[in-house]
Amino acid sequence: MTAQIIDGKAIAKDVREEVAAGVEELRAKTGKVPGLAVVLVGEDPASQTYVRNKGRAADKCGMFSRQENRPADISQEELDALVDELNADPDIHGILVQLPLPKHLNATEVNDRIRPEKDVDGFHPINVGLLVSGRPCLKPCTPSGVMVMLERSGLTLKGAEAVIVGRSLIVGKPMAQLLTAAHATVTVCHSRTQDLPGVCRRADILVAATGQAEMIKKDWVKPGAAVIDVGISFVERDGKFKQVGDVLYDEVKEVAGWITPNPGGVGPMTIAMLMANTLEAAKNQLGV
Ligand code: GUN
Repeated sequence: MTAQIIDGKAIAKDVREEVAAGVEELRAKTGKVPGLAVVLVGEDPASQTYVRNKGRAADKCGMFSRQENRPADISQEELDALVDELNADPDIHGILVQLPLPKHLNATEVNDRIRPEKDVDGFHPINVGLLVSGRPCLKPCTPSGVMVMLERSGLTLKGAEAVIVGRSLIVGKPMAQLLTAAHATVTVCHSRTQDLPGVCRRADILVAATGQAEMIKKDWVKPGAAVIDVGISFVERDGKFKQVGDVLYDEVKEVAGWITPNPGGVGPMTIAMLMANTLEAAKNQLGV
């Protein structure tokens, strides 16, 4: 038996349509649409693609979007000043600074400077703290996209054993909070975890977020488990660069009950949830 595919592209399209309807409703009520500013420093090709896709998605949802490109040698002071300007702009409800930033810049400092109400990435310590406290907040896009995929696939989270591989601020940590809030029993693994394959094999829901190409093998997966592949790596195959995830897809799909394709799984969901966050941020700021 092969796994059921969780079609991130299709679920993301549904979410974006729901957001577009919400944008229209907001416009009818207030005369305003959500505004998203995406800041890109430097010319990393992958980041350029992500940022372009985020802007396009915002436009398609009926939002206002603004892309701010800055050279790789921008100073911390100049980048801080740009964040200050966007913080003060009443037409901008969401601010996202694409990561990674060049090494001479302090990403934490930039991030902490974004007004928490405009922090559509959910990385500001205020939002991180609210999430841990179980209070309303803007939540990181990738893990909230994973939650929507799990929920809309009809998977039972209550009482499920969830194993997350990776403990980043962007995915692993918030993923653990969201799954815990949904009543799963959560284990977070990382590079020092002993017997990683054995821990992964306990999972009813396995979320891989390491960035290590195809590290999750067939014998790491409990038969019937839901496997969510967050990683994005590029490997050379037959002279071409191919996107792969953290999961060795062709063999894991033979044992898993559900699996996300990569590409076409978590990636599109991240962008859809960014749209949802931008709408939520705008509604909050406009008092709707
Ligand atoms: N780089 C990779 N993922 C993300 C993300 O979710 N937000 C931002 N700002 N940068 C990223």
